[in-house]
Amino acid sequence: MQPLIFENNVLNILDQTKLPGEAIYLKTTDYTDVCQAIRELSVRGAPAIGVAAGYAIALGARSINAADMPAFLTELESVITTVTSTRPTAQNLFQAAERMKKVALLCQTSGEAREKLLQEARNIHFEQIKTDLEIGRLGAAIVKDKTSILTHCNTGSLATAGYGTALGVIKYAYSLGKKISVIATETRPLLQGARLTAFELKTEGIPFVLITDSMAGYIMSLGKVDMVITGADRIALNGDTANKIGTYTLAILAREHGVPFYIAAPTTTFDIKTQSGQDIVIEEREPEEVTHFNCHPSAPQGTKALNPAFDVTPSNLVSGYITEKGVFKAKEIASIFSDL
Ligand code: MRU
Repeated sequence: MQPLIFENNVLNILDQTKLPGEAIYLKTTDYTDVCQAIRELSVRGAPAIGVAAGYAIALGARSINAADMPAFLTELESVITTVTSTRPTAQNLFQAAERMKKVALLCQTSGEAREKLLQEARNIHFEQIKTDLEIGRLGAAIVKDKTSILTHCNTGSLATAGYGTALGVIKYAYSLGKKISVIATETRPLLQGARLTAFELKTEGIPFVLITDSMAGYIMSLGKVDMVITGADRIALNGDTANKIGTYTLAILAREHGVPFYIAAPTTTFDIKTQSGQDIVIEEREPEEVTHFNCHPSAPQGTKALNPAFDVTPSNLVSGYITEKGVFKAKEIASIFSDL
């Protein structure tokens, strides 16, 4: 199931908030509607957000009616600002926006820019698909036969608009005939694990069990987890990694139980301008996502709640980073980008 389909100048967004119950595509032609879909998590997962951002900016460019190129670029800048203000932690969003801006700056006319921006959005999407397959292939090589892998949140096709990152590694290893079983955490508060990862694993026919987030320590203590693989929303230069809230807890549990803990992510998720996790902006979402369950209150009225969408796992807890360029240790991250 494809989360994003662009055809006839319409970006069709699979509304992931309705999964697994209903598969409904939102038809968006206005970039502000794409922004709303990103904010409301109809499309989510850092790489898929990056792909959606590319299309949003291309749609925004179509709606600009400027007299000359400087005026076009000024209006495009405002489109880009709106797009990048949707989800602050997802590095791929900013990476895609930067790429789109560079393309526009090289154009002579607004007509040329509109055409080239759409092409660049398609390139971002296409490259994500290719990159994911490499992550899957390289990651599968470090997954032994008969492995029980715990994963968190959703990092499959739905999260990348490609093959997936952590879930891509799992799918690739399984496709090679390795006996893989998956432990998927439900991922409170919005249940991306229960709703989306379970849905993708079921569709792929990969054996899995679902656990609540709070079961992870006990399950590890029983020796039922051989490896943890998660995705990332943003990875700082020193390897500190922002990912779905609860990832840090899993990394500490993995260390305590001697379980290897891997992050799978494209190089576009690395933010080498940010030195360490301390400088990563963590998105805070509405407290109602915690005090309500499926729109029904699950706490007394007026209860205050915290709702950071992500946490930061320090690099010393990460066994390795599975990227499309290889599997790296934290201290090797700078070398991946040395040619830039
Ligand atoms: O809030 P979400 O659902 O966008 O969070 C997604 C995650 O945390 C994923 O692990 C991350 O973006 C990597 S997706 C390949």
